[in-house]
Amino acid sequence: MSHQSPSRPQVSVPDFARFKAQGRRIVMTTAYDVPTARIADAAGVDAILVGDSLGNVCLGFDNTLPVTMEMMLHHLQAVARAHPRALLLADMPYLSYHIGVEDTLRNGGAFMRAGAQGVKLEGGSPRLAMVRALVGAEIPVLGHLGLTPQSIHAMGGYKVQAKDGHAACALLEDALRLQEAGCFGIVLEGIPAELAAKVTEAVEIPTIGIGAGPDCSGQVLVFHDLLGLMPGHTPKFVRKYLDGYTLMVEAMSSWANEIREGDFPGPAESYMLPEATRKLLNTWAPPELQAP
Ligand code: KIV
Repeated sequence: MSHQSPSRPQVSVPDFARFKAQGRRIVMTTAYDVPTARIADAAGVDAILVGDSLGNVCLGFDNTLPVTMEMMLHHLQAVARAHPRALLLADMPYLSYHIGVEDTLRNGGAFMRAGAQGVKLEGGSPRLAMVRALVGAEIPVLGHLGLTPQSIHAMGGYKVQAKDGHAACALLEDALRLQEAGCFGIVLEGIPAELAAKVTEAVEIPTIGIGAGPDCSGQVLVFHDLLGLMPGHTPKFVRKYLDGYTLMVEAMSSWANEIREGDFPGPAESYMLPEATRKLLNTWAPPELQAP
């Protein structure tokens, strides 16, 4: 059964440039399985990223470093089976694009074969050869600059990046280099809003912000953050549109209480016998069982 909206055309990579040219803000979220992909797609987002945030929000890791190609492919394949109209992108996990061009191409190609329309990778100048090779193999690439979670240890934690003049200029140059290498867009994460605005002005390709202020060409938030599915601390850059965790715990508690009180299942949730079988069962007596 198809869950696609027949009225909504499939979003493609070239649409991103068109959206920026038209001044239409791009909306992106993450998804990791069929239900999250269906919810995001039904909400009409432009792009779905199977992010390596998978490690934090679904698999219980403290950071994204343990996420492997195998894990990403498993979840990408599930999201692809939801057939979203949104552009479907896959995040290249740690070490899947750091070792060499050949390895990067093999991994990027595996994502495309699994249904992705493009890939995202983190970093600037050190990744240009990989970006060029992927683009040369018809694999569209979304760059990612600023707070790049795979660099957690090099950055000394999740900290806002590029606050001093030298780092801000280096990030601007990296954005221009990623554009020149063929990226169709750049995620800007955890950088001051004024710098993100400057990058967005400096490049022709769209920028997608997360903790990068309002002046990017679009915004991305992790599915579980924006729907409040993670208990505990909410980062400053997240706005919760639902307290999903509390609502789900309340719903699950109601179900548990109704079971304990004998209210669930009721007649509406039960299958009943036909009249003739009921009568037969009413007259049924246990037979004497023969020893085998
Ligand atoms: O992994 C992820 O979810 C991401 C987005 C937050 C951009 O990289």
